Amino acid sequence: MKQDKCQKDNSCNICIDTPKPSQAEKEADETALVEKKMCDIRYKFMVISGKGGVGKSSVTVNLSATLTKQGYKVGILDADIHGPNIPKMLGVEGLKIIASGDGMLPIEVSENLHVMSTGFFLQRDQDAVIWRGPMKHGLLKQFLGEVRWGALDYLIIDLPPGTGDEALSVAHLIKNIDGAIVVTSPQDVALLDSRKAVTFAKQLRVPLVGVVENMSGFNCPYCHEPIDLFKKGGGERAAKEMSVPFLGRIPTDPEMVSCGDKGTPLVTIPGHEEINKAFTEISENWGQLLERVND
Ligand SMILES: Nc1ncnc2c1ncn2[C@@H]1O[C@H](COP(=O)(O)OP(=O)(O)OP(=O)(O)O)[C@@H](O)[C@H]1O
Ligand SMILES: [Mg+2]
Repeated sequence: MKQDKCQKDNSCNICIDTPKPSQAEKEADETALVEKKMCDIRYKFMVISGKGGVGKSSVTVNLSATLTKQGYKVGILDADIHGPNIPKMLGVEGLKIIASGDGMLPIEVSENLHVMSTGFFLQRDQDAVIWRGPMKHGLLKQFLGEVRWGALDYLIIDLPPGTGDEALSVAHLIKNIDGAIVVTSPQDVALLDSRKAVTFAKQLRVPLVGVVENMSGFNCPYCHEPIDLFKKGGGERAAKEMSVPFLGRIPTDPEMVSCGDKGTPLVTIPGHEEINKAFTEISENWGQLLERVND
């Protein structure tokens, strides 16, 4: 006979009647949840680089803003768990996530742009996330499977530099990921590392959408003559060597820094035709590549 209250010693039979799911079953359920959520999203991309500070997050926010201007619905997953910069770059830092029974709501930046980041869970800006790989994997699984992204045209996943835990987790969690965009700056050290990012994507069978050369060339703001700051053209050469499409180059613009700090993507500010043109061309090149992949 069953007792009214569980004694947690199996004497009541209740615990025996309702066996706990095994770890494997739990993982299968979570994976199914990620797959279900990802089904509502047309294209899913990761933005990677071999080296830090080459402009992945800047490319992510400006490309997202360009796509929303074109009428697309975009989500950004800030997968840089230790250094989440996206909330600040989009002017939504300090906001808190609302969780309900059926998942977490991403933060709305504008009607067509939503974002999820560890940054929204930190009490203070200076708080550090000190986590090992399995915890980060668990968090990314939640961000992909339990966030109410809704129907999106693009989910763009901004990763920390290198080919570590986060990039590996995202590549494993999203089975049908559409591709990786490799951001590089034109100096030799960055190019050397970007080749590693390309190898990473190839080894994990993540399709390579292409290479973006950021901080490509700089014109003196006074005399408008070109200054050889970080060189130019290396990203395109490296893409050719590695047989990867070249998506385009983004010039160095000091306002990119101030806009990132102010929380306004540069492409949303009038003027800056060169930067706007660069991001529009990248989104068009990328669109053409996607159409070819899906033909
Ligand atoms: N085209 C550009 N012109 C001028 N400054 C730029 C440009 N792109 C990025 N920056 C600046 O370079 C710095 C690094 O950019 P960002 O944070 O986007 O790089 P990241 O690759 O995401 O860095 P991390 O590897 O740390 O995540 C920022 O201060 C940003 O404003
Ligand atoms: Mg970044």
